Amino acid sequence: MMIRLTIASLTAMASLSILGLWHANAVSAAGYGVAGVQVASTSNISNGKKIYAANCASCHGASGEGGVGPSLHGDLKTPVMKRTKTALVAWIRDPKPPMPKLYPGTLKAKDVDDVAGYVLATFK
Ligand code: HEC
Repeated sequence: MMIRLTIASLTAMASLSILGLWHANAVSAAGYGVAGVQVASTSNISNGKKIYAANCASCHGASGEGGVGPSLHGDLKTPVMKRTKTALVAWIRDPKPPMPKLYPGTLKAKDVDDVAGYVLATFK
């Protein structure tokens, strides 16, 4: 009996901590001010344009007008998403599905930085 209780409480504690971890991840993904995200002060806009055309335009439109993904003009719709480079870089590195996670597989950190700079400078 004593052993059963112990196992039951261990199991409960384990599930709670799994839930806790999941919750912490969800919160940081929703914050987009993710600690440790470093951005360059300037982006290479012409590289950003190429990255956008090859990896983003199919869903967000060639001119950021939207399609499968939302328009990238004006206020962004994702809750608490702000038009700052840090927020965009954090999102592109670790977006919510159905947007695909292209970093670090397809895009390098510099590419993410450049495409974020391109989006902010081009789609207003
Ligand atoms: C397969 C389609 C797809 C591709 C490719 C894609 N996205 Fe997205 N993107 C989405 C969808 C769908 C959302 C909305 C997700 C949500 O709100 O949960 C989104 C959301 C976003 C947002 C937040 C918009 C808002 O209004 O809050 C930004 C910024 C963004 N994408 C930029 C990019 C960039 C830059 C690229 C290329 C590196 C890219 N996306 C590639 C589908 C895509």
